[in-house]
Amino acid sequence: MTAVDQPPASVPDFAALKACRHPVAYSHELTVAPIRRRLLGEDLVLWRDSAGTPHVLRDLCIHRGTALSLGRVVGDHIMCPYHGWQYGGDGTCRLIPQLADPTNIPGKAKVDAFRCEERYGLLWVAMQEPRYALPEIPEFDDPDWVVVRAGPYAWNSDASRQLENFTDFGHFPWVHPGLLGDPDRPVVDDYSVRIEGHVLYYDIVRPEAPNSDDFPVFANETASAPERRSRYQLHLPYTILLRLGWGGEKGMVYFFSSQPIDEDHCAGYVTIGRNYDLDQPDSVLQAFEDTIFEQDRHVVESQRPERVPFDLAAEMHLKFDAVAINYRKAMREQGLAKRP
Ligand code: FES
Ligand SMILES: [Fe+2]
Repeated sequence: MTAVDQPPASVPDFAALKACRHPVAYSHELTVAPIRRRLLGEDLVLWRDSAGTPHVLRDLCIHRGTALSLGRVVGDHIMCPYHGWQYGGDGTCRLIPQLADPTNIPGKAKVDAFRCEERYGLLWVAMQEPRYALPEIPEFDDPDWVVVRAGPYAWNSDASRQLENFTDFGHFPWVHPGLLGDPDRPVVDDYSVRIEGHVLYYDIVRPEAPNSDDFPVFANETASAPERRSRYQLHLPYTILLRLGWGGEKGMVYFFSSQPIDEDHCAGYVTIGRNYDLDQPDSVLQAFEDTIFEQDRHVVESQRPERVPFDLAAEMHLKFDAVAINYRKAMREQGLAKRP
């Protein structure tokens, strides 16, 4: 078979991804003012009612197709900016001011409403009944830990590329020298990946850069050639839970999830917990993450194709790419990626 005869590679299946929870905003971003966010190629309006309960509707008024996100919240309803129709959190139209009886609403007057829930300081949306539970992160509820949020990091790439970049430790010395990796110790030790349903588990002890003066964010006490223990859980499709340790009591939890905006846009939400340096201002870790994500963005936005090609015949895999190999396999096996 020549290259031109190759069938198109498997790509993320947006229809299947509707039955997964995706982050669309940090909780603190959502106030009484409606905001527009895009998920899996569809525009949504997010808003809170007078009781603070979040709601997510399709951002399209049934009357003339106006964006509801341009309107405002009135009590428990969101009001379209064009003719003032009001919708409840379930998407049903509750008031049409132009009618003699404005509550005499035709049955057809409603918009799609989607399941949403707040957890870990994020608003999650599933456009269909979700298949998987969110990861359990007891550290985030533990008073001995502090939690910092960074991002969201909006990239011109598919969420699958942003997710794989977060799992890829082979690039640390090259893209983040002195911050995450040590260019003098680029070898990736052997490790194994276990797949249980929609979760991949893998652990690695790997060379780390010494804590830098600019960003003293890690707890390694060795000044030269420190090592870092990383225990990963990769929850399909786009969420990672990473626990870091340096052999003592000090620990850090990274929780990363990428919002699949459309085929070539995504946004990464990073929530970090730690049980040391409790008084350090959030801005230190946020500036560190801003630097790391900016270094990654240039590389990942250059990748072609923009979406991870999920068949193993595409691209080239070596042993240390075991995470990507297993991620691509699991996404196909779970029916979340398929040939177009
Ligand atoms: S377009 Fe929304 S009320 Fe008319
Ligand atoms: Fe990176």
